[in-house]
Amino acid sequence: MKYTIAVIPGDGIGPEVTNQAKKALNAVADVYNHVFIFKEAQMGSCAIDETGDPLPAATIKICKDADAILFGAIGDTKYDNNPSAQVRPEQGLLRLRKELGLYCNVRPVKAYEQLIDNSPLKREVITGTDIAIYRELTGGIYFGIKELSEDKQTAFDGCTYTVKEISRITHLAFKAAQNRKKKVTLVDKANVLETSRLWRKTVSEIAKEYKDVTIEYMFVDNAAMQMILNPKQFDVILTENLLGDIISDVASVMGGSIGILASSSIGDENALFEPIHGSFSQAAGKDIANPIASILSAALLLEHLGLHEEADAIERAVEKSLVLGITTEDIKGKTSFFATTSKVGDFIADYIMHQDDSNMNFKNIHTGQSTII
Ligand code: IPM
Ligand code: MG
Repeated sequence: MKYTIAVIPGDGIGPEVTNQAKKALNAVADVYNHVFIFKEAQMGSCAIDETGDPLPAATIKICKDADAILFGAIGDTKYDNNPSAQVRPEQGLLRLRKELGLYCNVRPVKAYEQLIDNSPLKREVITGTDIAIYRELTGGIYFGIKELSEDKQTAFDGCTYTVKEISRITHLAFKAAQNRKKKVTLVDKANVLETSRLWRKTVSEIAKEYKDVTIEYMFVDNAAMQMILNPKQFDVILTENLLGDIISDVASVMGGSIGILASSSIGDENALFEPIHGSFSQAAGKDIANPIASILSAALLLEHLGLHEEADAIERAVEKSLVLGITTEDIKGKTSFFATTSKVGDFIADYIMHQDDSNMNFKNIHTGQSTII
């Protein structure tokens, strides 16, 4: 089959990790006889530098016309340290989410056996953790009215949610739970926020339609603590935009490194796949960033296109790289060996193409003399 994939490399390490995901997709195309046409588009700091706009119109068109979107990362330290900047890279991503209606952000967090010792949390606490975070992505305080008073002494960020916005992601979260451990935890701040109370009311109504799924409610402060104390208690976490942003970074600790966590952002017409990690500008161009989150985002993209076997092939190759320790420095574990971004990408692409271990020369891998890396 032929698919058009919009590729937005973005800023910082975005381009280098996205390149590794493209390698994996090209390997899949080769093995499974598909054609992936990559259409590159700009967004973020690089787009501001070139066009003055973090989300040029051409990018929106390329994304709308594509079967799926693969995105790298956004942001640059020159903006992080300048709160007065009027135009910011992040506005590009937020507008893209809104324009394409990508309201459902799914962030799977699993404790990979090979990475458990990489996490600062105890082995017995995180072993077996398998959480899917469903974060609402186009509403809430991110998209509310923002104001700064004329004397610049008062700022305002409004937070709005409608029953419609809450309902559509809630149904997706419950449907996901039906195919998992059949539990949804709504994370909110209903003891303080009106919007959170609307979430509770709406979700508790919808829960009645899914009798096989248990619903649980948890305040976000407690949820952040529970995730560290006992992450295994969670199955699907459903939450609003800002709380989901925070909770998903907390959850990344369970995965051993934020560098391996992928996400999908789904709407009725479009879908975008991206690593959870940011642009990490300090590492840009150094070939040290972990490409796994981007490569696993490509696997989620294939799942979305209905290419399950192909997605599995990528996941198996990633697992193999972890088992063999062909990983970047952030997850190198106890060995002194680590590979560059592009070598990890080469290995994973190569493994997808030659899945039979016996065809591969793993000897000398850790001395860098293998034929593979
Ligand atoms: C994320 C990021 C974004 C967000 C930023 C870059 C705007 O942190 O995808 O989690 O806050 O949604
Ligand atoms: Mg975030």
